[in-house]
Amino acid sequence: MEGQAEASEVGTYVHGYNAEHREFLSVRTAARQADFFLPYLKEGMRLLDCGCGQGAITTGLAAAILPGEAVGIDMGESQIAAAREWAAAKGQQNVRFEVGNLYEIPFPDASFDAVFANTVLEHVDDPGRAMREMRRVLKPGGVVGLADPDYGTLIQEPSTPLSLELRELLLRFSKESGSPFYARNMRRTLLDSGFVRPVSFVQAYGTHTVEDNRFAIEKVQIPSLEALRPRIVQRGLADAARIDAMIADARAWSERPDGFYALMHCAAVAWAP
Ligand SMILES: C[S@@+](CC[C@H](N)C(=O)[O-])C[C@H]1O[C@@H](n2cnc3c(N)ncnc32)[C@H](O)[C@@H]1O
Repeated sequence: MEGQAEASEVGTYVHGYNAEHREFLSVRTAARQADFFLPYLKEGMRLLDCGCGQGAITTGLAAAILPGEAVGIDMGESQIAAAREWAAAKGQQNVRFEVGNLYEIPFPDASFDAVFANTVLEHVDDPGRAMREMRRVLKPGGVVGLADPDYGTLIQEPSTPLSLELRELLLRFSKESGSPFYARNMRRTLLDSGFVRPVSFVQAYGTHTVEDNRFAIEKVQIPSLEALRPRIVQRGLADAARIDAMIADARAWSERPDGFYALMHCAAVAWAP
């Protein structure tokens, strides 16, 4: 069953659904990724985490609103299964998870006090439409918190012709199904979606050591490229040998003592009127 679900999901999510990607997401925490949002949460709130992935952040947000309830939704069935396991292993009882699409959030109007999404709107082709759905399910006065990378801020050096080709390929597919450059306009998009008083924040992410670079390459870049491999080959963008060469080049970069990677995430909170 999971295999069938994953086959249908893979076409719409650029990273693909794989164990490596879930491992990458599992090191995330509410304290780090939702640092800008936590000050706005209060005990007893009802919170929705959209595109919750495998639930590491959701579980932390749930702890911040006890005895309120946190709900995580994600379009990936395998993500939701992993999130349920994660919360059970952490013993976090005020959180539950459901399959759901951000464009049609499966809850009535005005049913949450807080709505959050971390690195999710970058994956939809119309972030404004997703924001309007988030506003619909927020109660008047409810707070939204969003964080997404803007790929115009990506630095990965030293670069090589193969590393630049790999980056362009990933970006090409990200642009087809998502919005890798929308985050710089997050406040504008929030206002256009009917939110008020948007406040913006910056989160700087980077790697520090060879181990970090190895983790990023092995858990994100290579699995993402592998997930896209059939489409890349089918469209004639690169053949199998060229993709293998890109993977070898990425691995070689991750072992360099001078490899540097940095990416800025734009974040914001705003309120439903
Ligand atoms: C990079 S992961 C982030 C997961 C989690 N928010 C975190 O930061 O750990 C992006 C997630 O968004 C989900 N996603 C993308 N588009 C979605 C949509 N339209 N509706 C629901 N989930 C979506 C994907 O399935 C994936 O699990």
